[in-house]
Amino acid sequence: MSKHVEELKADKVSLESYLKKQDWLQPDEKLTGFEVPGEGNMNFTLRIKTHKRSFIIKQSRDYVEKYPQVAAPAERALREAAFYQLISGEDKLKKKTPQLFGVDHQNHVLFLEDLGNGVDYTFLYQQDQHLNDNELEEITAFAARLHQSINVNTTQEKLPNRKMRKLNHEHIFIFPYLEDNGLNLDDVLPGLQEVGESYKKDSLLKKEVEKLGQRYLKDGNMLLHGDYFPGSWLKTEDGIIIIDPEFCFFGEVEFEIGVMLAHLKMANQPEGMLEKALNIYKQISSIDEALCQKFMAIEILRRILGLAQLPLSSNLEERKALLEESRKILV
Ligand SMILES: Nc1ncnc2c1ncn2[C@@H]1O[C@H](COP(=O)(O)OP(=O)(O)OP(=O)(O)O)[C@@H](O)[C@H]1O
Ligand SMILES: [Mg+2]
Repeated sequence: MSKHVEELKADKVSLESYLKKQDWLQPDEKLTGFEVPGEGNMNFTLRIKTHKRSFIIKQSRDYVEKYPQVAAPAERALREAAFYQLISGEDKLKKKTPQLFGVDHQNHVLFLEDLGNGVDYTFLYQQDQHLNDNELEEITAFAARLHQSINVNTTQEKLPNRKMRKLNHEHIFIFPYLEDNGLNLDDVLPGLQEVGESYKKDSLLKKEVEKLGQRYLKDGNMLLHGDYFPGSWLKTEDGIIIIDPEFCFFGEVEFEIGVMLAHLKMANQPEGMLEKALNIYKQISSIDEALCQKFMAIEILRRILGLAQLPLSSNLEERKALLEESRKILV
């Protein structure tokens, strides 16, 4: 991290002095404690408690919080802030995201509303955990409204977020298909490494993956959340709140919805849910379903064969079936 950046520490005295300096604490407000609000990998995220209230701070650093040896775009929190800024005029979207109280541009820190002790939807990957109709509607309609209301026709803003997109591109379209990527898939699930080999050797498949990767990197028309999977959906007392848009950019909506559908599939949701989701989406905004299927296949392949593994409950045979289905969609 450059010398101009103050790296926050999980320490009461230094946090209080930092928050005072930012004017994020009232003059008489004392810090009473802090905690990690939930599972996260990329950033330094804390719930701050004072004798009056609680709030969240989130700092992005030039490395991945959980794996400090892995570099990451330092300013990604500012891209997340730009996303909240862009949707701030749209009540329906704003209500479904945390309020952004402040941004420290110098040190890449967000000052966010505390949404309470909710859990994200990664529990969906467990057996017999299903979204109900309301939840599916909330999740799908949020994305559709986002795409529908923030796009090149409604804003001049660009938000390329190129460094984050490049990082994601590497993980989605490149790494899973490298012969020697250093990942032993047998550590994830015995037998998976061998299954993966045939995908790494499939040049037709890899060509199609390459093409879709180029589409992902191209600037598109609609503002996407960019990481639209259960880890970004928070279950709160006021319904589902969408968090963590650090991978946002203007792109093709089929990428966003393809990713969402991929996760519904990997979470083994009931028959018909994908179609239901597409129908909800299409009532609000239009979408190319064939392209959407392709991005869905891409996401399934990378989540099963790549580095960003999920807590899936499916066995080897089920994962093989998902991979095969994905291959068929792509070639
Ligand atoms: N505004 C908030 N209110 C309450 N809890 C929050 C809030 N923001 C984040 N959290 C909790 O902290 C966790 C991590 O937050 P977030 O996903 O934004 O961080 P991250 O470092 O980008 O994580 P990841 O590496 O998984 O992308 C969330 O899953 C959630 O449990
Ligand atoms: Mg994140």
